[in-house]
Amino acid sequence: MAAANVPTARAVATSDMAEVREALAEFGAPHVVKDDGLAAGKGVVVTNERDRAEAHARECIEAGGSVVIEEFLEGPEVSLFVITDGERVVPLIPAQDFKRVRDNDQGPNTGGMGAYTPLEWLPEGFTEQVIERVARPVVDELRRRGTPFVGVLYCGLAVTQRGVQVIEFNARFGDPETQSVLAMLESPLGELMLDAARGRLSEDRTLQWKSGASVTVVLAAQNYPGAPRKGDVISGLDQVESVDETHVIHAGTAKNDAGDIVSAGGRVLAVVSHGTDLHEARERGYRGMELISLPGAHYRSDIALAAAEGRITLPTTAEEQA
Ligand code: GLY
Repeated sequence: MAAANVPTARAVATSDMAEVREALAEFGAPHVVKDDGLAAGKGVVVTNERDRAEAHARECIEAGGSVVIEEFLEGPEVSLFVITDGERVVPLIPAQDFKRVRDNDQGPNTGGMGAYTPLEWLPEGFTEQVIERVARPVVDELRRRGTPFVGVLYCGLAVTQRGVQVIEFNARFGDPETQSVLAMLESPLGELMLDAARGRLSEDRTLQWKSGASVTVVLAAQNYPGAPRKGDVISGLDQVESVDETHVIHAGTAKNDAGDIVSAGGRVLAVVSHGTDLHEARERGYRGMELISLPGAHYRSDIALAAAEGRITLPTTAEEQA
């Protein structure tokens, strides 16, 4: 990102506890400590407690790894997926996910407990700005280095006082944001992906999107994001599609010998709904979720609520203050 002049948080990567302590002191609270490796979305600890930040770093380092200590980016988070053929970039629509396990962003981080789109609180021109300041420079830099990237570039962003900043990239779609983004997409996704793979993506392509909004609510197994309880029978799945524009996407499910659908992972399934606005999509999604039963399971009840109620505010930028 430094090479491509892409805005992001200051960060220190280290496997030395003295450097960890120094970086935590320099950046201040809230502390962000990331396991510097794959951790299924659960390697990040964001905390105001210095001891907890140090303990997470020590745990990662003692397990033979290293950590990244980052400056905390204050502001609402946005995920934007960009399809690229290594040269040209075509954005999908921004979505927001909910990483903490409980309502009001309480409890530990998860892989994602829900999502929605569109984000009507974003400033006009947001997607174009992310393309010009983030996605295109990164794709160009990777090509310049002789390691072109073809596929889905997941831009994880925060809208901060200093404008858009990158939190993370993933070389894949995001879960569960994709469930809502694709529920809005009318153009064929396969064609877009094939064009990207064949190096003939056109930036003039206009993707067709449904009007209205989509909400995704994840049903998680008992004890998730810790070791989830598995093997419980899930009932009510067939009834969900009786709710207008609402469907289930399976993730951690399996069939047992008796042919029942049972839980087989932490994030068991997602209920995805569409409506004329976020209120209607939420109402449909939660009505669908209430038809499902899985012993000990839990889900958040506030997915897209703040956005539906117009309670998401953007930090004032230095330019706006002047
Ligand atoms: N929703 C977060 C992720 O897919 O990484």
